[in-house]
Amino acid sequence: MVKAREKSRRQPGTPYQKVASGAESSPVGEEALAHAVSLGYSDDELKAVPAEALLSHGCGNAVSRAWLRQGEIVVDLGSGAGLDALLAARRVGPAGRVIGVDMTLERVERANRVARKANFANVEFIHAPIERLPTRRRFG
Ligand SMILES: C[S@@+](CC[C@H](N)C(=O)[O-])C[C@H]1O[C@@H](n2cnc3c(N)ncnc32)[C@H](O)[C@@H]1O
Repeated sequence: MVKAREKSRRQPGTPYQKVASGAESSPVGEEALAHAVSLGYSDDELKAVPAEALLSHGCGNAVSRAWLRQGEIVVDLGSGAGLDALLAARRVGPAGRVIGVDMTLERVERANRVARKANFANVEFIHAPIERLPTRRRFG
């Protein structure tokens, strides 16, 4: 089962790769914003992150229910374009840290670019399947 999923993950043109590379229509601009609002993200949250971080096809505002505190370490499994990870980074502050993990390289690269451009120093995105987290190398 895991092997079959890994095989399909490596093939070019998965839906996530297409969205990340812009090869498939996706909610961008007003549509992305409307989608995020419909998922419960507040104005304040949406103003705090770059618009590119909204390009994820997410399914809910997890951070709003996560009771995060300053200084905590957060691992976001399936971090996509980075919206939830960036919001978590705001909540844990400079003493905390957020690690986004995603199997889609295009998404990881884009999320790292967006985070750097917006000066989020306490978040990084790494490329890995969540079934095989590089725990010793990254989080140990
Ligand atoms: C809907 S998006 C997540 C949106 C994200 N929460 C946000 O705030 O932008 C789902 C992501 O999970 C990733 N994903 C799905 N299955 C995965 C797996 N087994 N391992 C790693 N990433 C996975 C996809 O590549 C995709 O980017």
